[in-house]
Amino acid sequence: MIAVSAASGALGRLVIDHLRTRTKVVAVVRDPARAPAGVPARRGDYDDPAGLRAAFEGVDRLLLISSPELDTARRTAQHLAAVSAAADAGVGAIVFTSFLDADTSATGLTAAYHATERAILASGLPYTIMRHPFYSDAFLPRVAGGELTGSTGGRGLNTAFRSDLAEAAANVLTGEGHLGRAYDLTGPLWTHPEAAQALGVTYREVPDTGSGPMSWINGQIRAGALERRSPDLEQVLGRPAETVVARLLRTAAEPTGS
Ligand SMILES: NC(=O)c1ccc[n+]([C@@H]2O[C@H](COP(=O)([O-])OP(=O)(O)OC[C@H]3O[C@@H](n4cnc5c(N)ncnc54)[C@H](OP(=O)(O)O)[C@@H]3O)[C@@H](O)[C@H]2O)c1
Repeated sequence: MIAVSAASGALGRLVIDHLRTRTKVVAVVRDPARAPAGVPARRGDYDDPAGLRAAFEGVDRLLLISSPELDTARRTAQHLAAVSAAADAGVGAIVFTSFLDADTSATGLTAAYHATERAILASGLPYTIMRHPFYSDAFLPRVAGGELTGSTGGRGLNTAFRSDLAEAAANVLTGEGHLGRAYDLTGPLWTHPEAAQALGVTYREVPDTGSGPMSWINGQIRAGALERRSPDLEQVLGRPAETVVARLLRTAAEPTGS
Protein backbone atom coordinates (compact mmCIF):
# COMPACT_ATOMS: atom_id res chain seq x y z
CA MET A 1 0.00 0.00 0.00
CA ILE A 2 1.16 3.51 -0.88
CA ALA A 3 0.37 6.46 1.41
CA VAL A 4 0.50 10.11 0.35
CA SER A 5 0.72 12.72 3.11
CA ALA A 6 -0.67 16.27 2.70
CA ALA A 7 -2.88 14.56 0.12
CA SER A 8 -5.52 17.30 0.21
CA GLY A 9 -3.13 19.84 -1.37
CA ALA A 10 -2.69 20.65 -5.05
CA LEU A 11 0.32 18.34 -5.52
CA GLY A 12 -1.10 15.53 -3.38
CA ARG A 13 -4.35 15.42 -5.36
CA LEU A 14 -2.45 15.15 -8.65
CA VAL A 15 -0.32 12.29 -7.27
CA ILE A 16 -3.41 10.46 -6.00
CA ASP A 17 -5.03 10.85 -9.44
CA HIS A 18 -2.07 9.02 -10.99
CA LEU A 19 -1.89 6.32 -8.33
CA ARG A 20 -5.54 5.39 -7.87
CA THR A 21 -5.68 3.54 -11.19
CA ARG A 22 -2.31 1.84 -10.70
CA THR A 23 -2.27 0.54 -7.13
CA LYS A 24 -3.73 0.58 -3.62
CA VAL A 25 -3.35 4.06 -2.18
CA VAL A 26 -4.37 5.82 1.01
CA ALA A 27 -4.63 9.61 1.43
CA VAL A 28 -3.14 10.92 4.69
CA VAL A 29 -4.81 14.25 5.51
CA ARG A 30 -5.20 16.38 8.60
CA ASP A 31 -8.92 16.87 7.89
CA PRO A 32 -10.75 13.90 6.31
CA ALA A 33 -13.42 16.33 5.05
CA ARG A 34 -10.82 17.66 2.58
CA ALA A 35 -9.52 14.27 1.46
CA PRO A 36 -9.51 13.55 -2.29
CA ALA A 37 -12.58 11.57 -3.32
CA GLY A 38 -12.44 7.92 -4.30
CA VAL A 39 -9.61 6.69 -2.09
CA PRO A 40 -9.52 5.73 1.60
CA ALA A 41 -8.29 8.45 3.94
CA ARG A 42 -6.46 8.39 7.26
CA ARG A 43 -5.99 11.30 9.62
CA GLY A 44 -2.39 12.51 9.79
CA ASP A 45 -1.24 15.91 11.03
CA TYR A 46 2.45 16.87 10.96
CA ASP A 47 1.90 18.44 14.38
CA ASP A 48 0.66 15.13 15.85
CA PRO A 49 3.50 12.54 15.91
CA ALA A 50 1.40 9.77 17.51
CA GLY A 51 -1.34 10.23 14.92
CA LEU A 52 1.23 10.05 12.11
CA ARG A 53 2.59 6.77 13.50
CA ALA A 54 -0.90 5.26 13.28
CA ALA A 55 -1.52 6.75 9.82
CA PHE A 56 1.65 5.13 8.43
CA GLU A 57 0.87 1.64 9.75
CA GLY A 58 1.16 -1.06 7.08
CA VAL A 59 2.49 1.35 4.44
CA ASP A 60 4.95 -0.04 1.87
CA ARG A 61 5.84 3.30 0.33
CA LEU A 62 5.17 6.73 1.78
CA LEU A 63 5.22 9.96 -0.21
CA LEU A 64 6.07 12.63 2.34
CA ILE A 65 4.95 15.92 0.78
CA SER A 66 6.68 18.87 2.41
CA SER A 67 4.70 21.07 4.78
CA PRO A 68 3.57 24.54 3.62
CA GLU A 69 4.59 25.91 7.04
CA LEU A 70 6.79 29.01 6.53
CA ASP A 71 8.50 29.04 9.92
CA THR A 72 11.68 27.00 9.46
CA ALA A 73 11.88 25.61 12.99
CA ARG A 74 8.25 24.51 12.98
CA ARG A 75 8.45 23.10 9.47
CA THR A 76 11.60 21.16 10.37
CA ALA A 77 9.95 19.75 13.50
CA GLN A 78 6.93 18.68 11.43
CA HIS A 79 9.05 16.91 8.83
CA LEU A 80 11.25 15.22 11.44
CA ALA A 81 8.14 14.02 13.27
CA ALA A 82 6.91 12.48 10.03
CA VAL A 83 10.25 10.76 9.37
CA SER A 84 10.35 9.36 12.92
CA ALA A 85 6.76 8.17 12.62
CA ALA A 86 7.58 6.49 9.31
CA ALA A 87 10.56 4.71 10.89
CA ASP A 88 8.55 3.68 13.97
CA ALA A 89 5.73 2.36 11.78
CA GLY A 90 8.26 0.42 9.70
CA VAL A 91 7.25 1.82 6.32
CA GLY A 92 8.99 0.04 3.48
CA ALA A 93 10.39 3.21 1.89
CA ILE A 94 10.00 6.96 2.11
CA VAL A 95 9.87 9.32 -0.88
CA PHE A 96 10.31 12.99 0.06
CA THR A 97 9.49 16.09 -1.97
CA SER A 98 12.55 18.17 -1.19
CA PHE A 99 13.83 21.34 -2.86
CA LEU A 100 16.73 21.96 -5.26
CA ASP A 101 20.06 22.51 -3.50
CA ALA A 102 18.79 21.15 -0.17
CA ASP A 103 21.68 18.69 -0.23
CA THR A 104 24.29 21.46 -0.18
CA SER A 105 22.52 24.47 1.35
CA ALA A 106 21.40 24.35 4.99
CA THR A 107 20.13 27.93 5.28
CA GLY A 108 17.13 30.04 4.26
CA LEU A 109 14.57 28.47 1.97
CA THR A 110 16.28 25.07 1.96
CA ALA A 111 17.01 24.81 5.71
CA ALA A 112 14.05 22.59 6.62
CA TYR A 113 14.52 20.48 3.49
CA HIS A 114 18.21 20.00 4.31
CA ALA A 115 17.44 18.87 7.86
CA THR A 116 14.76 16.50 6.56
CA GLU A 117 17.05 14.92 3.98
CA ARG A 118 19.61 14.30 6.71
CA ALA A 119 17.00 12.82 9.03
CA ILE A 120 15.84 10.47 6.28
CA LEU A 121 19.41 9.31 5.64
CA ALA A 122 19.96 8.85 9.40
CA SER A 123 16.71 6.89 9.80
CA GLY A 124 18.05 3.97 7.78
CA LEU A 125 14.80 3.79 5.82
CA PRO A 126 15.03 3.04 2.11
CA TYR A 127 14.41 6.39 0.43
CA THR A 128 14.13 8.48 -2.70
CA ILE A 129 14.67 12.23 -2.51
CA MET A 130 12.84 14.26 -5.17
CA ARG A 131 14.21 17.81 -5.16
CA HIS A 132 11.64 20.13 -6.69
CA PRO A 133 12.27 23.43 -8.45
CA PHE A 134 9.82 26.34 -8.09
CA TYR A 135 6.47 25.38 -9.58
CA SER A 136 5.81 26.79 -13.07
CA ASP A 137 2.14 27.10 -12.13
CA ALA A 138 3.00 30.11 -9.94
CA PHE A 139 5.31 31.69 -12.52
CA LEU A 140 3.15 31.66 -15.66
CA PRO A 141 3.61 35.11 -17.21
CA ARG A 142 0.52 37.08 -18.20
CA VAL A 143 0.05 39.31 -21.23
CA ALA A 144 -1.49 42.70 -20.51
CA GLY A 145 -1.95 45.53 -23.00
CA GLY A 146 -0.25 43.52 -25.74
CA GLU A 147 2.99 43.08 -23.85
CA LEU A 148 4.59 40.74 -21.38
CA THR A 149 6.57 42.27 -18.57
CA GLY A 150 9.06 40.78 -16.16
CA SER A 151 11.93 41.60 -13.82
CA THR A 152 14.07 38.59 -14.58
CA GLY A 153 16.72 40.19 -16.79
CA GLY A 154 15.96 37.64 -19.50
CA ARG A 155 17.66 34.92 -17.45
CA GLY A 156 16.52 31.31 -17.41
CA LEU A 157 14.02 29.67 -15.07
CA ASN A 158 14.19 25.92 -14.41
CA THR A 159 10.63 25.70 -13.07
CA ALA A 160 8.43 22.62 -13.58
CA PHE A 161 4.68 22.09 -13.47
CA ARG A 162 3.08 20.35 -10.50
CA SER A 163 1.41 17.99 -12.97
CA ASP A 164 4.78 16.66 -14.18
CA LEU A 165 6.27 16.52 -10.67
CA ALA A 166 3.20 14.56 -9.53
CA GLU A 167 3.54 12.07 -12.37
CA ALA A 168 7.24 11.71 -11.57
CA ALA A 169 6.38 10.98 -7.94
CA ALA A 170 3.83 8.35 -9.01
CA ASN A 171 6.44 6.73 -11.26
CA VAL A 172 8.95 6.56 -8.41
CA LEU A 173 6.36 5.21 -5.96
CA THR A 174 5.24 2.44 -8.29
CA GLY A 175 8.50 1.75 -10.13
CA GLU A 176 11.75 -0.04 -9.41
CA GLY A 177 15.33 1.21 -9.31
CA HIS A 178 14.65 4.49 -7.50
CA LEU A 179 15.69 3.59 -3.95
CA GLY A 180 18.82 5.20 -2.52
CA ARG A 181 18.65 7.93 -5.16
CA ALA A 182 18.20 11.70 -5.09
CA TYR A 183 16.72 13.41 -8.15
CA ASP A 184 17.22 17.07 -9.04
CA LEU A 185 13.97 17.71 -10.88
CA THR A 186 14.67 20.81 -12.93
CA GLY A 187 12.17 21.74 -15.62
CA PRO A 188 12.98 22.84 -19.19
CA LEU A 189 14.75 26.21 -19.01
CA TRP A 190 12.68 29.19 -20.24
CA THR A 191 12.91 32.98 -20.25
CA HIS A 192 10.34 35.77 -20.27
CA PRO A 193 11.57 37.19 -23.61
CA GLU A 194 11.20 33.70 -25.18
CA ALA A 195 7.68 33.40 -23.81
CA ALA A 196 6.78 36.82 -25.24
CA GLN A 197 8.18 35.88 -28.63
CA ALA A 198 6.21 32.61 -28.68
CA LEU A 199 3.01 34.51 -27.88
CA GLY A 200 3.75 37.17 -30.53
CA VAL A 201 3.91 40.06 -28.07
CA THR A 202 6.71 42.37 -26.99
CA TYR A 203 8.73 41.86 -23.84
CA ARG A 204 9.45 44.76 -21.52
CA GLU A 205 11.80 44.52 -18.57
CA VAL A 206 10.39 46.45 -15.63
CA PRO A 207 12.18 47.47 -12.44
CA ASP A 208 11.50 45.20 -9.49
CA THR A 209 10.05 47.56 -6.93
CA GLY A 210 8.62 45.01 -4.49
CA SER A 211 10.16 43.69 -1.31
CA GLY A 212 8.27 40.40 -0.79
CA PRO A 213 9.27 36.80 -1.60
CA MET A 214 8.64 37.29 -5.34
CA SER A 215 11.08 40.17 -5.39
CA TRP A 216 13.70 38.02 -3.69
CA ILE A 217 13.09 35.24 -6.21
CA ASN A 218 13.39 37.72 -9.11
CA GLY A 219 16.78 38.74 -7.72
CA GLN A 220 17.82 35.09 -7.64
CA ILE A 221 16.65 34.65 -11.23
CA ARG A 222 18.58 37.75 -12.40
CA ALA A 223 21.69 36.30 -10.72
CA GLY A 224 21.26 33.09 -12.75
CA ALA A 225 20.45 30.93 -9.71
CA LEU A 226 17.60 29.13 -11.54
CA GLU A 227 19.60 28.16 -14.62
CA ARG A 228 20.84 24.85 -13.32
CA ARG A 229 19.76 21.90 -15.48
CA SER A 230 19.53 18.20 -14.76
CA PRO A 231 18.19 15.35 -16.91
CA ASP A 232 16.46 13.73 -13.90
CA LEU A 233 12.86 14.89 -14.44
CA GLU A 234 12.81 13.82 -18.08
CA GLN A 235 14.36 10.49 -17.13
CA VAL A 236 11.87 9.76 -14.35
CA LEU A 237 8.95 10.81 -16.59
CA GLY A 238 10.25 8.86 -19.58
CA ARG A 239 9.40 11.90 -21.75
CA PRO A 240 10.24 15.60 -21.84
CA ALA A 241 8.55 17.73 -19.18
CA GLU A 242 5.99 20.30 -20.32
CA THR A 243 7.54 23.67 -21.16
CA VAL A 244 6.09 26.97 -19.98
CA VAL A 245 5.86 28.12 -23.60
CA ALA A 246 3.86 25.00 -24.55
CA ARG A 247 1.47 25.56 -21.64
CA LEU A 248 1.03 29.24 -22.57
CA LEU A 249 0.26 28.38 -26.19
CA ARG A 250 -2.13 25.60 -25.14
CA THR A 251 -3.95 27.91 -22.74
CA ALA A 252 -4.12 30.70 -25.34
CA ALA A 253 -5.65 28.26 -27.85
CA GLU A 254 -8.33 27.05 -25.44
CA PRO A 255 -11.85 28.38 -25.97
CA THR A 256 -12.74 30.99 -23.37
CA GLY A 257 -16.40 29.88 -23.11
CA SER A 258 -19.46 32.00 -23.61
N1 LIG B 1 8.43 24.30 -5.25
C1 LIG B 1 7.53 25.25 -5.13
O1 LIG B 1 7.47 26.22 -5.92
C2 LIG B 1 6.52 25.18 -4.04
C3 LIG B 1 5.50 26.12 -4.01
C4 LIG B 1 4.56 26.01 -3.00
C5 LIG B 1 4.67 24.99 -2.07
N2 LIG B 1 5.69 24.11 -2.13
C6 LIG B 1 5.83 23.00 -1.17
O2 LIG B 1 5.25 21.87 -1.79
C7 LIG B 1 4.19 21.36 -0.95
C8 LIG B 1 3.07 20.88 -1.83
O3 LIG B 1 2.63 21.96 -2.63
P1 LIG B 1 1.10 22.18 -2.89
O4 LIG B 1 1.01 23.11 -4.03
O5 LIG B 1 0.38 20.88 -2.94
O6 LIG B 1 0.65 22.96 -1.55
P2 LIG B 1 -0.85 23.22 -1.03
O7 LIG B 1 -1.83 23.06 -2.12
O8 LIG B 1 -0.81 24.50 -0.27
O9 LIG B 1 -1.10 22.01 -0.01
C9 LIG B 1 -0.48 21.99 1.23
C10 LIG B 1 -0.91 20.71 1.92
O10 LIG B 1 -0.26 20.63 3.20
C11 LIG B 1 -1.25 20.22 4.14
N3 LIG B 1 -0.86 20.60 5.48
C12 LIG B 1 -0.76 21.84 6.00
N4 LIG B 1 -0.41 21.77 7.29
C13 LIG B 1 -0.34 20.45 7.60
C14 LIG B 1 -0.06 19.72 8.79
N5 LIG B 1 0.21 20.35 9.94
N6 LIG B 1 -0.07 18.38 8.74
C15 LIG B 1 -0.35 17.72 7.59
N7 LIG B 1 -0.64 18.35 6.43
C16 LIG B 1 -0.64 19.70 6.45
C17 LIG B 1 -2.51 20.90 3.68
O11 LIG B 1 -3.62 20.29 4.30
P3 LIG B 1 -5.04 21.07 4.50
O12 LIG B 1 -5.87 20.73 3.30
O13 LIG B 1 -5.56 20.44 5.76
O14 LIG B 1 -4.76 22.53 4.64
C18 LIG B 1 -2.42 20.61 2.19
O15 LIG B 1 -2.81 19.30 1.92
C19 LIG B 1 3.82 22.54 -0.04
O16 LIG B 1 3.28 22.07 1.17
C20 LIG B 1 5.15 23.22 0.15
O17 LIG B 1 5.94 22.60 1.15
C21 LIG B 1 6.60 24.17 -3.10
